[in-house]
Amino acid sequence: MAKTNTTVYVCSECGATSPRWLGRCPSCGQFNTMAEEIVKPAASENAKKGVYSLPHAKPLSQVTYERHDRVSSGISEFDTVLGGGIVKGSLVLLGGDPGIGKSTLLTQISAHLSKNHKVLYFSAEESCSQVKMRCDRLGCGGEQMLLLNGTCIDNLESELDGVEYCVVDSIQAVYTDDLSSSSGSVGQVRECATKLMRIAKSRGITFFIIGHVTKEGALAGPKVLEHIMDTVLYFEGENRENFRILRAVKNRFGNVSEVGVFEMTGEGIIAINDYSGIFLSESRGEEAGCAVTPSQTGNRCMNVEIQALITKVAFGQPRRMSLGVDYNKLALLLAVLEKRCNLHFSAQEVYINVMGGIKLNEPACDLAVCAALASSYFDKPVDKYTAVFGEVGLTGEVRAVQYAEKRVQECVKMGFKRVLLPAKNMKSVAKYADKISIVPVLYLGTMLKSLFPKD
Ligand SMILES: Nc1ncnc2c1ncn2[C@@H]1O[C@H](COP(=O)(O)OP(=O)(O)OP(=O)(O)O)[C@@H](O)[C@H]1O
Ligand SMILES: [Mg+2]
Repeated sequence: MAKTNTTVYVCSECGATSPRWLGRCPSCGQFNTMAEEIVKPAASENAKKGVYSLPHAKPLSQVTYERHDRVSSGISEFDTVLGGGIVKGSLVLLGGDPGIGKSTLLTQISAHLSKNHKVLYFSAEESCSQVKMRCDRLGCGGEQMLLLNGTCIDNLESELDGVEYCVVDSIQAVYTDDLSSSSGSVGQVRECATKLMRIAKSRGITFFIIGHVTKEGALAGPKVLEHIMDTVLYFEGENRENFRILRAVKNRFGNVSEVGVFEMTGEGIIAINDYSGIFLSESRGEEAGCAVTPSQTGNRCMNVEIQALITKVAFGQPRRMSLGVDYNKLALLLAVLEKRCNLHFSAQEVYINVMGGIKLNEPACDLAVCAALASSYFDKPVDKYTAVFGEVGLTGEVRAVQYAEKRVQECVKMGFKRVLLPAKNMKSVAKYADKISIVPVLYLGTMLKSLFPKD
């Protein structure tokens, strides 16, 4: 009798197995770690001899190059993030918050590719009519694009004859019949991704796979999902704002330092090539609580405005809220300002926001956060044409940061007249002294004196 596949539940922590699902692993005691896996029957000796022709090791000099032809996606920023275009036969995972525009971006790209290639859009989340409606709204054509609505990935393989590009929307919504667990579970996501990888590598089909993210912002599902992929992209931005940033966190065919800047409009996603000034407000320089910092995101430097609001606590514990800046970083900078510069926040509520929904996670923005906080505290605006950057240490010292030259260059380009930066970065930026007033800062207190001389 022919042996068939069976499934077993394996603990992701310790590897213990069980024939049925358990909430708690009996071996290591961890909760919710059992994921379903397929157990394939071992091939018999005779079958092994017939099927496998084992590869032999060869010296490096005899290895031939595989050419990676690249095709444009029709969106220049997307090509840049991929390292110069889409590589044939690669697996690209696009993760992002709900409603951020993942389906929109890939619909536009599919429509563009379908002009010259056979493209299949496999939608497990939306019906074909919804996808068509979106295409019509975006006005991106795509008449040749093939649509398939379904959730079982086993049906997909037979539809892939002649297809060069395939979009799977999304990996958490599809399932394979080989496993009994529901779609989106760790086992299903891993098995479906492995199946797609096998198809991609054996038939040379490029897959764009949409992935959901968890509340913490990481891709939902097992870590192996990211390991299998050739490229992992994150689509970020605040849902309420129109700007989106596309970032590569892994790329086997290019570097991961490139980011793409997009704008979400009614007509779809538009790449922004000239991004300078889009993250600055109109009221800058007139209202207290705003500070501008040249922030390095990937390979790009952009001037970003940080806004702070400090109000008297109404009752109870004062609130601290931070959008775009790490909450712990805010707490740390408040403590440094309190201890080293005598600004008292214990009876104040503190709110921080970064314009345009940008997330700043580099230490170079510390000084600008402090400048915005102090500006709101003193109720005095920071000069409109002044930018600041630098890392703040716990002792109140301002430490040198990377890419100082690029940051100053961006400030010059944007028409800023003064830039406050770490004294230790002075050497590398001295050549810009005739174009912009450069103020070296050694301590946090020095910066505050320089920005608010009378306070
Ligand atoms: N008629 C419309 N006019 C303008 N913008 C729209 C319109 N319909 C949708 N949008 C925009 O498109 C966004 C949804 O895009 P999309 O469906 O591509 O997101 P998604 O990342 O695929 O979301 P999900 O995770 O739910 O699939 C909405 O948040 C909205 O900003
Ligand atoms: Mg979608």
